[in-house]
Amino acid sequence: MKRIVTLVSGRGTNMQAIHAASLQQGWPAAVVGVVSNRPGAAALDYAAAHGIATAVVDHRSHASREAFDEALAETVQALDPDLLVLAGFMRILGAGFVRRFEGRMLNIHPSLLPSFPGLHTHRRALEAGCKAVGATVHFVTAELDHGPIVMQSVVPVRPGDDEHRLADRVLATEHSIYPLAVRWFVEGKLRIEGQRVRQADGASQVLM
Ligand code: GAR
Repeated sequence: MKRIVTLVSGRGTNMQAIHAASLQQGWPAAVVGVVSNRPGAAALDYAAAHGIATAVVDHRSHASREAFDEALAETVQALDPDLLVLAGFMRILGAGFVRRFEGRMLNIHPSLLPSFPGLHTHRRALEAGCKAVGATVHFVTAELDHGPIVMQSVVPVRPGDDEHRLADRVLATEHSIYPLAVRWFVEGKLRIEGQRVRQADGASQVLM
């Protein structure tokens, strides 16, 4: 059984989708821990209610980014993960932390990377006049919201959309593509070749 540990900062609907899919689809893996940098994150309540170990590493109680990263790495390591899944985790991780888990750490970002890394992605996409937006699951590298892309979803922009409506429609697709990408990882189906990620069965890596 592969061990999945998720890092969260908020409500954790992506984490919930991954947890539910792992059970419903009988993955050779289990979500064994949910670690939050925010003490009040709703994701922690879900985890506790489902018998998943929880931990909080509050970034405000650490004097520097390095100290936070070190405490986080210790907490995560104690859960002995095969895969680290960032699911709405809103802190930037330092290069040391990334190196420690590189190749076994995934993130989801609510844009079609490499467009719109960082915050307020939907607002920026609307301002730029994009006709389609989406979400990206990628391996985490030291560069923020970069790293080899595993899967993307594409969502058309409709007349009258605002950033909240777009965010809702993109989030619904996140709940499909993130569990699928995580499943591929735990089943050993992902091959990283430079900047590209190949799915071993040739499955489509885009949800339209
Ligand atoms: C999701 O839309 C995710 O893509 C985004 O935060 C939301 C978390 O929702 N992540 C980022 O912006 C990371 N840069 P959730 O807590 O309900 O999964």
